[in-house]
Amino acid sequence: MNDLFLRACKRQKVERTPVWMMRQAGRYLPEYRAVRAKSDFLTMCKTPELAAEVTVQPVDIIGVDAAIIFSDILVIPEAMGLHLEMVESKGPKFHNPVRTREDVHSLKIPDPEKSLRYVMQALETTKHALAGRVPLIGFSGSPWTLSAYMIEGSGGKEWKYAKRMMLDEPELMKELLGTLAESVRLYLEAQLAAGADAVQIFDTWGGVLTPDQYKRFSLEYIHQIVSKLHRNGQPVIVFSKGANHSLKEIADIGADVVGLDWTIDIADAKSVIGDKVALQGNLDPSALYSSPESIRREVKSILQKYGKGTGHVFNLGHGIFPDVPVEHAQAFVRAVKEESPQYHS
Ligand code: CP3
Repeated sequence: MNDLFLRACKRQKVERTPVWMMRQAGRYLPEYRAVRAKSDFLTMCKTPELAAEVTVQPVDIIGVDAAIIFSDILVIPEAMGLHLEMVESKGPKFHNPVRTREDVHSLKIPDPEKSLRYVMQALETTKHALAGRVPLIGFSGSPWTLSAYMIEGSGGKEWKYAKRMMLDEPELMKELLGTLAESVRLYLEAQLAAGADAVQIFDTWGGVLTPDQYKRFSLEYIHQIVSKLHRNGQPVIVFSKGANHSLKEIADIGADVVGLDWTIDIADAKSVIGDKVALQGNLDPSALYSSPESIRREVKSILQKYGKGTGHVFNLGHGIFPDVPVEHAQAFVRAVKEESPQYHS
Protein backbone atom coordinates (compact mmCIF):
# COMPACT_ATOMS: atom_id res chain seq x y z
CA MET A 1 0.00 0.00 0.00
CA ASN A 2 0.98 3.61 -0.62
CA ASP A 3 1.08 4.50 3.08
CA LEU A 4 2.69 7.96 2.73
CA PHE A 5 -0.43 9.55 4.20
CA LEU A 6 -0.42 7.35 7.32
CA ARG A 7 3.32 7.79 7.84
CA ALA A 8 3.09 11.59 7.54
CA CYS A 9 0.19 11.61 10.04
CA LYS A 10 2.45 9.73 12.46
CA ARG A 11 5.39 12.00 11.66
CA GLN A 12 7.36 9.04 10.31
CA LYS A 13 9.82 9.43 7.44
CA VAL A 14 8.34 9.83 3.93
CA GLU A 15 9.88 10.15 0.46
CA ARG A 16 7.52 12.95 -0.50
CA THR A 17 4.58 14.88 0.98
CA PRO A 18 1.25 13.01 0.66
CA VAL A 19 -1.76 14.89 -0.70
CA TRP A 20 -5.56 14.59 -0.72
CA MET A 21 -8.42 17.11 -0.92
CA MET A 22 -11.38 17.65 1.37
CA ARG A 23 -14.61 17.04 -0.61
CA GLN A 24 -12.56 15.26 -3.28
CA ALA A 25 -15.46 12.91 -4.08
CA GLY A 26 -17.83 15.47 -5.53
CA ARG A 27 -19.42 17.53 -8.22
CA TYR A 28 -16.27 18.93 -9.89
CA LEU A 29 -15.80 15.41 -11.32
CA PRO A 30 -17.92 14.58 -14.43
CA GLU A 31 -17.75 10.94 -13.32
CA TYR A 32 -19.38 11.90 -9.99
CA ARG A 33 -22.08 13.92 -11.76
CA ALA A 34 -22.84 10.91 -13.97
CA VAL A 35 -23.55 8.72 -10.92
CA ARG A 36 -25.40 11.56 -9.18
CA ALA A 37 -27.62 12.12 -12.23
CA LYS A 38 -29.16 8.71 -11.59
CA SER A 39 -29.62 8.88 -7.79
CA ASP A 40 -30.29 11.50 -5.19
CA PHE A 41 -27.57 12.34 -2.72
CA LEU A 42 -28.84 10.41 0.31
CA THR A 43 -29.55 7.32 -1.80
CA MET A 44 -25.91 7.44 -2.91
CA CYS A 45 -24.80 7.64 0.74
CA LYS A 46 -27.00 4.65 1.61
CA THR A 47 -26.03 2.42 -1.33
CA PRO A 48 -22.59 0.97 -0.55
CA GLU A 49 -21.73 0.20 -4.20
CA LEU A 50 -22.46 3.79 -5.28
CA ALA A 51 -20.66 5.29 -2.29
CA ALA A 52 -17.64 3.08 -2.99
CA GLU A 53 -17.64 3.96 -6.69
CA VAL A 54 -17.46 7.72 -6.10
CA THR A 55 -15.01 7.34 -3.19
CA VAL A 56 -12.50 5.65 -5.50
CA GLN A 57 -12.96 8.10 -8.41
CA PRO A 58 -10.48 10.76 -7.18
CA VAL A 59 -7.87 8.07 -6.51
CA ASP A 60 -8.09 6.97 -10.15
CA ILE A 61 -8.65 10.37 -11.77
CA ILE A 62 -6.70 12.83 -9.58
CA GLY A 63 -4.05 10.55 -8.06
CA VAL A 64 -4.59 11.48 -4.42
CA ASP A 65 -2.73 9.56 -1.69
CA ALA A 66 -5.83 8.79 0.42
CA ALA A 67 -9.52 8.15 -0.17
CA ILE A 68 -12.24 9.64 2.08
CA ILE A 69 -15.46 7.70 2.36
CA PHE A 70 -18.36 9.26 0.48
CA SER A 71 -21.02 10.13 3.06
CA ASP A 72 -22.11 13.23 4.95
CA ILE A 73 -21.70 14.59 8.46
CA LEU A 74 -25.50 14.84 8.79
CA VAL A 75 -26.18 11.09 8.75
CA ILE A 76 -25.60 11.02 12.53
CA PRO A 77 -28.38 13.50 13.37
CA GLU A 78 -30.62 11.52 11.04
CA ALA A 79 -29.81 8.33 12.95
CA MET A 80 -30.58 10.20 16.20
CA GLY A 81 -34.13 10.82 15.05
CA LEU A 82 -34.09 13.97 12.89
CA HIS A 83 -35.75 13.96 9.50
CA LEU A 84 -33.07 14.98 6.96
CA GLU A 85 -33.69 16.24 3.46
CA MET A 86 -31.02 17.42 1.02
CA VAL A 87 -32.77 20.18 -0.88
CA GLU A 88 -31.45 20.44 -4.44
CA SER A 89 -29.08 23.44 -4.83
CA LYS A 90 -30.04 24.72 -1.36
CA GLY A 91 -28.43 22.31 1.07
CA PRO A 92 -29.52 20.25 4.05
CA LYS A 93 -32.79 20.71 5.92
CA PHE A 94 -34.07 19.12 9.13
CA HIS A 95 -37.84 19.18 9.38
CA ASN A 96 -37.86 18.79 13.17
CA PRO A 97 -35.02 20.98 14.50
CA VAL A 98 -33.85 20.68 18.12
CA ARG A 99 -35.08 23.74 20.01
CA THR A 100 -36.42 22.68 23.41
CA ARG A 101 -35.45 20.55 26.39
CA GLU A 102 -37.94 17.91 25.20
CA ASP A 103 -36.29 17.92 21.76
CA VAL A 104 -32.86 17.33 23.32
CA HIS A 105 -34.19 14.55 25.55
CA SER A 106 -35.89 12.74 22.68
CA LEU A 107 -32.58 12.24 20.84
CA LYS A 108 -31.10 8.78 21.07
CA ILE A 109 -27.46 7.73 20.88
CA PRO A 110 -27.46 5.57 17.75
CA ASP A 111 -26.01 2.09 17.61
CA PRO A 112 -23.84 2.62 14.50
CA GLU A 113 -23.85 -1.08 13.66
CA LYS A 114 -27.62 -0.81 13.27
CA SER A 115 -28.82 2.60 12.11
CA LEU A 116 -25.55 3.53 10.37
CA ARG A 117 -24.79 0.04 9.10
CA TYR A 118 -24.82 1.37 5.51
CA VAL A 119 -21.76 3.53 6.26
CA MET A 120 -19.86 0.48 7.57
CA GLN A 121 -20.88 -1.46 4.47
CA ALA A 122 -19.71 1.41 2.26
CA LEU A 123 -16.33 1.35 4.05
CA GLU A 124 -16.04 -2.43 3.61
CA THR A 125 -16.99 -2.27 -0.08
CA THR A 126 -14.58 0.62 -0.64
CA LYS A 127 -11.69 -1.18 1.09
CA HIS A 128 -12.25 -4.05 -1.27
CA ALA A 129 -12.39 -1.76 -4.32
CA LEU A 130 -9.23 0.09 -3.28
CA ALA A 131 -7.40 -3.23 -2.95
CA GLY A 132 -4.77 -1.66 -0.72
CA ARG A 133 -3.81 1.11 -3.13
CA VAL A 134 -4.22 3.97 -0.64
CA PRO A 135 -5.55 4.35 2.92
CA LEU A 136 -9.24 5.05 3.52
CA ILE A 137 -10.32 7.93 5.79
CA GLY A 138 -13.55 7.81 7.81
CA PHE A 139 -15.07 10.96 9.27
CA SER A 140 -17.65 12.67 11.42
CA GLY A 141 -18.77 16.21 12.13
CA SER A 142 -17.77 17.67 15.51
CA PRO A 143 -20.46 17.90 18.20
CA TRP A 144 -20.66 21.70 17.88
CA THR A 145 -20.91 21.66 14.06
CA LEU A 146 -23.56 18.92 14.15
CA SER A 147 -25.52 20.73 16.86
CA ALA A 148 -25.47 23.95 14.82
CA TYR A 149 -27.30 22.22 11.94
CA MET A 150 -29.60 20.31 14.30
CA ILE A 151 -30.72 23.40 16.23
CA GLU A 152 -30.95 25.69 13.22
CA GLY A 153 -32.62 23.08 11.03
CA SER A 154 -30.44 24.04 8.06
CA GLY A 155 -27.17 25.72 7.21
CA GLY A 156 -26.90 29.19 8.70
CA LYS A 157 -25.05 32.44 8.74
CA GLU A 158 -25.93 33.97 12.09
CA TRP A 159 -26.69 30.58 13.73
CA LYS A 160 -29.41 32.43 15.59
CA TYR A 161 -31.03 29.51 17.41
CA ALA A 162 -27.80 27.64 18.16
CA LYS A 163 -26.12 30.73 19.65
CA ARG A 164 -29.26 31.57 21.57
CA MET A 165 -29.31 28.12 23.18
CA MET A 166 -25.58 28.42 23.93
CA LEU A 167 -26.03 31.74 25.70
CA ASP A 168 -29.48 31.38 27.28
CA GLU A 169 -29.43 27.68 28.18
CA PRO A 170 -25.76 26.65 28.36
CA GLU A 171 -26.53 23.55 30.45
CA LEU A 172 -29.03 22.30 27.87
CA MET A 173 -26.52 23.03 25.10
CA LYS A 174 -23.88 21.04 26.98
CA GLU A 175 -26.27 18.16 27.43
CA LEU A 176 -26.85 18.09 23.68
CA LEU A 177 -23.10 18.32 22.98
CA GLY A 178 -22.41 15.49 25.44
CA THR A 179 -24.96 13.26 23.72
CA LEU A 180 -23.38 14.10 20.37
CA ALA A 181 -19.84 13.45 21.64
CA GLU A 182 -20.83 9.94 22.75
CA SER A 183 -22.66 9.30 19.46
CA VAL A 184 -19.66 10.48 17.43
CA ARG A 185 -17.19 8.40 19.46
CA LEU A 186 -19.20 5.21 18.90
CA TYR A 187 -19.66 6.08 15.24
CA LEU A 188 -15.91 6.64 14.68
CA GLU A 189 -15.06 3.41 16.54
CA ALA A 190 -17.45 1.52 14.26
CA GLN A 191 -15.80 3.10 11.21
CA LEU A 192 -12.36 2.00 12.44
CA ALA A 193 -13.70 -1.51 13.01
CA ALA A 194 -15.13 -1.51 9.47
CA GLY A 195 -11.69 -0.75 8.02
CA ALA A 196 -11.12 3.01 8.14
CA ASP A 197 -7.34 3.59 8.34
CA ALA A 198 -7.71 7.08 9.88
CA VAL A 199 -10.57 9.36 10.91
CA GLN A 200 -11.14 13.09 10.56
CA ILE A 201 -13.39 15.27 12.72
CA PHE A 202 -14.81 18.16 10.67
CA ASP A 203 -15.50 21.19 12.85
CA THR A 204 -16.55 23.33 9.92
CA TRP A 205 -18.27 25.98 12.06
CA GLY A 206 -15.75 26.22 14.91
CA GLY A 207 -14.74 29.62 13.55
CA VAL A 208 -18.11 31.28 14.14
CA LEU A 209 -17.57 31.04 17.91
CA THR A 210 -15.66 33.44 20.14
CA PRO A 211 -12.35 31.96 21.34
CA ASP A 212 -13.91 31.30 24.77
CA GLN A 213 -17.02 29.67 23.30
CA TYR A 214 -14.85 27.64 20.96
CA LYS A 215 -12.90 26.14 23.88
CA ARG A 216 -15.94 25.48 26.08
CA PHE A 217 -18.49 24.34 23.51
CA SER A 218 -16.48 22.90 20.63
CA LEU A 219 -12.94 21.84 21.56
CA GLU A 220 -14.03 20.41 24.94
CA TYR A 221 -16.30 17.87 23.20
CA ILE A 222 -13.79 17.04 20.47
CA HIS A 223 -11.36 16.40 23.33
CA GLN A 224 -13.87 14.03 24.98
CA ILE A 225 -14.17 12.06 21.75
CA VAL A 226 -10.44 11.82 21.06
CA SER A 227 -9.49 10.94 24.63
CA LYS A 228 -12.06 8.12 24.88
CA LEU A 229 -11.77 6.79 21.33
CA HIS A 230 -10.66 3.15 21.27
CA ARG A 231 -8.26 2.75 18.39
CA ASN A 232 -5.41 0.65 17.22
CA GLY A 233 -2.91 3.35 16.27
CA GLN A 234 -5.12 4.75 13.48
CA PRO A 235 -4.47 8.52 13.21
CA VAL A 236 -7.08 11.10 14.19
CA ILE A 237 -7.24 14.43 12.32
CA VAL A 238 -9.01 17.44 13.87
CA PHE A 239 -10.00 20.23 11.50
CA SER A 240 -11.60 23.27 13.12
CA LYS A 241 -12.04 25.84 10.39
CA GLY A 242 -11.38 29.38 11.55
CA ALA A 243 -9.90 28.42 14.92
CA ASN A 244 -6.38 29.76 14.45
CA HIS A 245 -6.70 31.42 17.87
CA SER A 246 -6.60 27.98 19.54
CA LEU A 247 -4.09 25.92 17.55
CA LYS A 248 -1.92 25.24 20.57
CA GLU A 249 -4.90 23.95 22.55
CA ILE A 250 -6.10 21.79 19.63
CA ALA A 251 -2.64 20.23 19.36
CA ASP A 252 -2.86 19.23 23.04
CA ILE A 253 -5.97 17.02 23.02
CA GLY A 254 -4.31 13.86 21.74
CA ALA A 255 -5.05 14.01 18.01
CA ASP A 256 -2.26 13.11 15.58
CA VAL A 257 -2.95 15.79 12.98
CA VAL A 258 -4.27 19.34 13.14
CA GLY A 259 -6.01 20.63 10.01
CA LEU A 260 -5.34 24.23 8.94
CA ASP A 261 -7.52 26.50 6.86
CA TRP A 262 -5.81 28.87 4.40
CA THR A 263 -5.88 31.99 6.56
CA ILE A 264 -2.73 31.14 8.51
CA ASP A 265 0.83 30.86 7.28
CA ILE A 266 1.80 27.21 7.79
CA ALA A 267 5.22 28.32 9.10
CA ASP A 268 3.48 30.32 11.83
CA ALA A 269 1.22 27.38 12.69
CA LYS A 270 4.30 25.17 12.93
CA SER A 271 6.11 27.57 15.21
CA VAL A 272 3.06 27.90 17.50
CA ILE A 273 2.39 24.16 17.64
CA GLY A 274 5.91 22.73 17.47
CA ASP A 275 6.46 19.17 16.28
CA LYS A 276 4.01 17.45 18.60
CA VAL A 277 1.44 16.77 15.87
CA ALA A 278 1.39 16.68 12.08
CA LEU A 279 -0.22 19.52 10.12
CA GLN A 280 -2.72 19.15 7.29
CA GLY A 281 -3.39 21.87 4.71
CA ASN A 282 -3.52 24.56 3.63
CA LEU A 283 -3.88 25.76 0.03
CA ASP A 284 -6.65 28.34 -0.46
CA PRO A 285 -9.38 26.32 -2.25
CA SER A 286 -9.97 29.33 -4.55
CA ALA A 287 -6.37 29.00 -5.81
CA LEU A 288 -7.62 26.04 -7.87
CA TYR A 289 -9.42 28.54 -10.14
CA SER A 290 -6.03 29.95 -11.18
CA SER A 291 -3.71 28.54 -13.85
CA PRO A 292 -1.65 25.35 -13.28
CA GLU A 293 1.44 27.60 -13.17
CA SER A 294 -0.02 29.72 -10.37
CA ILE A 295 -1.19 26.61 -8.53
CA ARG A 296 2.34 25.21 -8.66
CA ARG A 297 3.79 28.47 -7.37
CA GLU A 298 1.38 28.40 -4.39
CA VAL A 299 2.21 24.73 -3.69
CA LYS A 300 5.94 25.49 -3.74
CA SER A 301 5.44 28.36 -1.34
CA ILE A 302 3.60 26.18 1.21
CA LEU A 303 6.18 23.38 0.91
CA GLN A 304 8.95 25.89 1.48
CA LYS A 305 7.20 27.42 4.48
CA TYR A 306 6.70 23.99 6.07
CA GLY A 307 10.34 23.20 5.33
CA LYS A 308 12.29 19.98 5.53
CA GLY A 309 11.02 16.85 7.22
CA THR A 310 7.89 14.82 7.72
CA GLY A 311 4.63 15.71 9.47
CA HIS A 312 2.88 17.54 6.61
CA VAL A 313 -0.19 16.19 4.82
CA PHE A 314 -0.90 18.48 1.89
CA ASN A 315 -4.55 19.43 1.46
CA LEU A 316 -6.75 22.39 0.68
CA GLY A 317 -7.72 24.70 3.53
CA HIS A 318 -11.35 23.61 3.01
CA GLY A 319 -13.35 21.59 0.49
CA ILE A 320 -12.80 21.80 -3.27
CA PHE A 321 -15.44 23.92 -5.04
CA PRO A 322 -17.83 22.18 -7.46
CA ASP A 323 -16.85 24.34 -10.45
CA VAL A 324 -13.07 23.84 -10.29
CA PRO A 325 -11.66 22.42 -13.56
CA VAL A 326 -10.55 18.80 -13.12
CA GLU A 327 -7.20 19.62 -14.79
CA HIS A 328 -6.49 22.14 -12.03
CA ALA A 329 -7.09 19.56 -9.31
CA GLN A 330 -4.77 17.24 -11.21
CA ALA A 331 -2.17 20.01 -11.56
CA PHE A 332 -2.34 20.61 -7.79
CA VAL A 333 -1.68 16.96 -6.92
CA ARG A 334 1.05 16.67 -9.58
CA ALA A 335 2.78 19.78 -8.23
CA VAL A 336 2.87 18.36 -4.68
CA LYS A 337 4.25 15.06 -5.98
CA GLU A 338 6.94 16.71 -8.09
CA GLU A 339 8.00 19.56 -5.82
CA SER A 340 8.01 17.81 -2.42
CA PRO A 341 10.74 15.09 -2.65
CA GLN A 342 13.51 17.69 -2.17
CA TYR A 343 12.14 18.36 1.33
CA HIS A 344 12.53 14.72 2.37
CA SER A 345 16.06 13.83 1.27
O1 CP3 B 1 -14.77 14.77 1.27
C1 CP3 B 1 -15.39 13.96 0.55
O2 CP3 B 1 -15.22 13.89 -0.67
C2 CP3 B 1 -16.32 12.98 1.22
C3 CP3 B 1 -17.68 13.33 1.20
C4 CP3 B 1 -18.22 14.47 2.03
C5 CP3 B 1 -19.43 15.12 1.70
N1 CP3 B 1 -19.77 15.94 2.71
C6 CP3 B 1 -20.22 14.88 0.47
C7 CP3 B 1 -21.22 15.87 0.04
C8 CP3 B 1 -17.79 14.98 3.26
C9 CP3 B 1 -16.53 14.70 4.04
C10 CP3 B 1 -18.79 15.90 3.68
C11 CP3 B 1 -18.75 16.60 4.98
C12 CP3 B 1 -19.70 17.70 5.23
N2 CP3 B 1 -21.03 17.76 4.93
C13 CP3 B 1 -19.36 18.86 5.94
C14 CP3 B 1 -18.02 19.14 6.57
C15 CP3 B 1 -16.98 19.45 5.57
C16 CP3 B 1 -17.11 20.80 4.94
O3 CP3 B 1 -17.14 20.85 3.71
O4 CP3 B 1 -17.10 21.78 5.69
C17 CP3 B 1 -20.52 19.66 6.02
C18 CP3 B 1 -20.63 21.02 6.69
C19 CP3 B 1 -21.57 18.94 5.38
C20 CP3 B 1 -23.00 19.34 5.27
C21 CP3 B 1 -23.44 19.46 3.87
N3 CP3 B 1 -23.55 18.40 2.97
C22 CP3 B 1 -23.85 20.63 3.21
C23 CP3 B 1 -23.87 22.01 3.83
C24 CP3 B 1 -24.21 20.25 1.92
C25 CP3 B 1 -24.82 21.11 0.86
C26 CP3 B 1 -23.87 22.09 0.31
C27 CP3 B 1 -23.15 21.51 -0.87
O5 CP3 B 1 -21.92 21.44 -0.85
O6 CP3 B 1 -23.89 21.15 -1.80
C28 CP3 B 1 -23.97 18.87 1.76
C29 CP3 B 1 -24.16 18.04 0.56
C30 CP3 B 1 -22.98 17.26 0.05
N4 CP3 B 1 -22.14 16.50 0.83
C31 CP3 B 1 -22.57 17.12 -1.31
C32 CP3 B 1 -21.47 16.24 -1.31
C33 CP3 B 1 -20.71 15.72 -2.50
C34 CP3 B 1 -23.25 17.73 -2.50
C35 CP3 B 1 -24.48 16.91 -2.77
C36 CP3 B 1 -24.78 16.73 -4.21
O7 CP3 B 1 -24.11 15.94 -4.91
O8 CP3 B 1 -25.74 17.36 -4.64
